[in-house]
Amino acid sequence: MKKLLSLVLALTLTCVCILSFASCGKKGKTLEEVKAAGKLVIATSPDFPPFENLDEDGKVVGIEVDIMKLICAALGVEMVLEQVDFESVLPGVKATKYDCGMSGITVTESRQKNMLFTDSYCLAAQSIVVKEDSTIESKADLAGKKVSVQTGTTAEEFCMKNGYTVSAFQTNPDAELELINGRVDAWVIDNLTALEMVAAYNADPSHTTQLVILDEVMTTEPYAFAFAFGSEDLVAEINKTLQALLKDGTIKTLFALYEAPYIAPSAAE
Ligand code: ARG
Repeated sequence: MKKLLSLVLALTLTCVCILSFASCGKKGKTLEEVKAAGKLVIATSPDFPPFENLDEDGKVVGIEVDIMKLICAALGVEMVLEQVDFESVLPGVKATKYDCGMSGITVTESRQKNMLFTDSYCLAAQSIVVKEDSTIESKADLAGKKVSVQTGTTAEEFCMKNGYTVSAFQTNPDAELELINGRVDAWVIDNLTALEMVAAYNADPSHTTQLVILDEVMTTEPYAFAFAFGSEDLVAEINKTLQALLKDGTIKTLFALYEAPYIAPSAAE
């Protein structure tokens, strides 16, 4: 019996070791490895204008695509975009399925425990969107109300923490539709994407109701690109490019090109 027990114990220990070794073994690519591969494989959820969305031809376009093109050019590698739902971006990067995550990603303390982030290139916030006839006028009015959000986002985390009744959707258009169809009282989403999506909705003459973004914005959200641990030297190299683009005004100009209000990351310091 004793022998059997120690055998089981030994087997269990071996399994645990193999499993933890396998997961520890997964490291993000180094600068040299990315250069040798000649490409940077980037996971993106293109439902987030003006940062990344699909144009009429189904091509991913937006501010982050333009920034990433400059980053890849500086690295001398091809930019390869893989389209996934937002909730799969960060786990996919962590598991080194992709080299990088590009999705209007907010740097948070809990995410930093799981992966690396480049320097941030702008500041955003969360906005509350309601229908024009809504009685909700501020964050305080949201208490006890139903809100829609995108799954895996900081909006979801924020709304759960605040005790709202949360309905989470894989894509932003689905979260928006929930509000339009009156199944939730508000839709919580990053401010710049709210501006763009609400303007597009309100401009469509076939829409009888209008959406309104409340003046009160919540949270401060620095955006950056995500990498797996192991990619430290790659991130350091990319930061050099990002800092140059911030310094020479390229990033600010890109926001202006997309008619998006720009707040520099230094505003948070
Ligand atoms: N900034 C938020 C976050 O990091 C939302 C990002 C959503 N991005 C997207 N491409 N749908 O959680």
